Amino acid sequence: MPDKQVADKYDVIVIGGGPAGYVAAIRCAQLGMKTACIDKWINKDGKPALGGTCLNVGCIPSKALLEDSEQFEHISKHSIEHGITVKNVKMNVAAMIERKDKIVTELTAGIAQLFTANKITWLQGKGTLLNDKKVSVEPLDGKKVSVYQAENVIIATGSSPIELACAPLTDDRIVDNEGALNWESVPKRLGIVGAGVIGLELGSVWRRLGAEVIILEAMDDFLATADTQVAKQAKRELDKQGLDIRLGSRITQTKLNDNDLLVEYTNKKGEQQLTVDRLIVSVGRKPNTDGIAVDNVNLTMDERNRIDVNDNCETNIPGIYAIGDVVRGPMLAHKGSEEGVAVAERIAGQKPHIDYNNCPWVIYTHPEIAWVGQTEKQLKEAGINYRSGVFSFAANGRAKAMNQASGFVKILADEQNDRVLGVHIVGPMASELIGQAVIAMESENTSEDIARTIFAHPSLSESIHEAALAVTNRAIHSVNRKK
Ligand code: FAD
Ligand code: NAI
Repeated sequence: MPDKQVADKYDVIVIGGGPAGYVAAIRCAQLGMKTACIDKWINKDGKPALGGTCLNVGCIPSKALLEDSEQFEHISKHSIEHGITVKNVKMNVAAMIERKDKIVTELTAGIAQLFTANKITWLQGKGTLLNDKKVSVEPLDGKKVSVYQAENVIIATGSSPIELACAPLTDDRIVDNEGALNWESVPKRLGIVGAGVIGLELGSVWRRLGAEVIILEAMDDFLATADTQVAKQAKRELDKQGLDIRLGSRITQTKLNDNDLLVEYTNKKGEQQLTVDRLIVSVGRKPNTDGIAVDNVNLTMDERNRIDVNDNCETNIPGIYAIGDVVRGPMLAHKGSEEGVAVAERIAGQKPHIDYNNCPWVIYTHPEIAWVGQTEKQLKEAGINYRSGVFSFAANGRAKAMNQASGFVKILADEQNDRVLGVHIVGPMASELIGQAVIAMESENTSEDIARTIFAHPSLSESIHEAALAVTNRAIHSVNRKK
């Protein structure tokens, strides 16, 4: 039982130091509140680290390896297309992992420095919500539990990988994202369960480094949440690269042999078997809510065991907020961070607002996939009439110069008032281009506003301009469809 004597009092205590929690803590401190952030993360070196999943085993390390592997593939396979012959290209996976770890260490240390600069107390340990806005902290070193009093508590405990009973994790042969970001050698044959975001990104990393990659996906549709045309184009590109994505394939069993690993799965044709060297399980994530509050704190959960919150991230208990992966909405770092800022400002008496419809999604495959707003399917289901403008990178000079001219930009605009309702991109630097669409949608722009904007030439952004022109059949560098 925690000692009920209060060790210190804070205006705000944040439980969880990931991109939702640490951003909330920094914004609270900026607004003059006495703030503490509790976090229990222990990094690869056995040391406490801020940054949560995103900085330690998620967004950042995966992008570091995506970059390394893409450079390797580009130099070894595609430099010739630029008139450059490079011989004896060699990879050093251990050096890639070391570079990735260095980036992680620098960034997580950077958060710690920001905490110091903002006078935020970092309490290292497991936080538990008690009654009356008290929080207990069980230190990582097993020392005595302390209790702190807060005026407001923000829960930002994040999420963890969903495990499959038929594929229990092992040291390094059946792994989740964390394990797959630490292999120092390339598996010959790699199986992946789940063709979602992690499966596609980490599958791309290891394929580019030389693994034969087979992805088993339970659903019949590929990337069901993306625009159908984008998903189709992306699938075509990934197939061409050699990612073997088997849709409608549900894993049933795994068996570890001495030298390999047998995976059994079912598809339309019945029971199938696959032999691989290693397996990544990436079938989604679950909210970290177990034991977050003591029993007599009646914190309400929703049907998916996430903390139930309203549009302002308020829980059913006054003064207790929850943000990030532990609540409804997409499990994305930037979504959690924006909620962190908004909650801090609400506590400070401001009236912040988040438009969740304008939250971008990016999948860092090659080509990249990015979107914001509604898909055509969603608009049809909602009975909203819209016009669509599509422009292919094949007619974009910059994309041609980069030798990355596959994919397109699609803009969907309301048929009546021309407001941009969705932008979907598959192609080079889609992750960067989508920011322009987010600004346009956040500013409630019409497709005409974009069509009348000057874009630099030659640039990938011109494809956004042309797609906006295409909404009203006046794209210059493509033949407009008769509508
Ligand atoms: P987390 O980052 O999970 O942080 C929660 C923190 O709370 C952790 O440090 C945890 O240790 C701590 N904690 C939990 N319980 C307690 C407790 N009781 N007491 C104290 N501390 C506690 N998102 C993107 O937007 N872009 C990407 O490119 C991207 N790539 C990803 C790649 C991978 C491989 C993975 C796995 C995820 C990726 N994500 C990406 C998702 C992103 O990482 C999450 O959406 C984001 O980290 C959620 O932030 P959070 O602060 O809510 O939770
Ligand atoms: P996901 O939800 O994106 O994909 C999981 C996939 O596994 C789904 O397609 C699902 O149909 C499939 N699946 C589930 N059970 C299965 C089974 N038994 N057999 C075969 N397939 C099965 O989840 P993922 O990839 O684990 O990522 C978790 C979350 O992390 C993402 O939803 C996203 O929010 C976040 N993330 C974001 C990234 C980004 O923004 N670029 C990158 C990586 C992760």
